[in-house]
Amino acid sequence: MPLRHLLRISDLSGDEIMAVIFRAGQLKKGWKENKRPRPLIDKTVALIFEKPSTRTRVSFETGISQLGGQAVFMSSRDSQISRAEPIRDTARVMSRYVHALVVRTFGQEIVEELAAFASIPVINALTDQHHPCQVLSDLLTVYEQFGCLEGLRCSWLGDGNNMANSWIEAAVRLNFKLVLGCPPGFYPDRKILAEAARADITVTEDPAQAVAGAQVVSTDVWASMGQEAERARRVKIFEKFRLDNKLLAGASPEAVVLHCLPAHRDEEISDEIMEGPRSLVWEQAGNRLHVQKALLEFLIRENP
Ligand code: CP
Ligand code: NVA
Repeated sequence: MPLRHLLRISDLSGDEIMAVIFRAGQLKKGWKENKRPRPLIDKTVALIFEKPSTRTRVSFETGISQLGGQAVFMSSRDSQISRAEPIRDTARVMSRYVHALVVRTFGQEIVEELAAFASIPVINALTDQHHPCQVLSDLLTVYEQFGCLEGLRCSWLGDGNNMANSWIEAAVRLNFKLVLGCPPGFYPDRKILAEAARADITVTEDPAQAVAGAQVVSTDVWASMGQEAERARRVKIFEKFRLDNKLLAGASPEAVVLHCLPAHRDEEISDEIMEGPRSLVWEQAGNRLHVQKALLEFLIRENP
């Protein structure tokens, strides 16, 4: 049996995504009722982060500890990766110490190389191309709100970045409609879009069209980690993609708003919307914990 990893959403089938979401919901409810499984007893999970993180790091570390395991965190500064130790060597060494690797880095090829050389599961905790753990949490949040995912009308507003790519793969797997509103030159990954050609996914340069009738409206920063130097230029280009009340008025009356955070208030999203009744951003962030636990449990089970 080949090792199972989570490098991108399309590493999971639609049924597996739904199973992780259901299980995350169960763990969320179970924790309050004192039902607390500990499948990670005597297991260690290493987190290697080459970019900053609040939610992903803390939800994984807390989740690992709640499941009875131990987390070891390494920033790139602390590891030999920063001194150019080959990724493939790191993969083989870490496989001899720990039971899973959670990695936040730049290129997708880095997590792919780790996975190719590791004998333990590798989880992508964000790359420039994908953010699968976050989108699983977004899907749980939407499922809690609407009781379904298939057939929903979702929209993505802003940069065609890692989050947008993972939303596209989720739409393919779960059969929901996705309209992405992105400025010219900032479309999602061309290859990922081409692979999704048969799904109900469109890209428009008109933000109002992207949001029209949407039940779920998601957005994200205009300059992702590693693009800080481009921020001033991007703010000008993305100006009309700001999610504010005027734009949201065109969405469905039942629309909810997601943002993976951190957010720049009054840049990509108005403060009014962030703090308003349509915003599920805090629930969405809170769900990270339950989803990480369900995902770890799934990968441990799939890789006995
Ligand atoms: N949404 C998200 O991944 O947040 P962090 O960068 O704080 O982990
Ligand atoms: N697109 C953002 C997501 C942060 C969680 C980034 O990559 O910085």
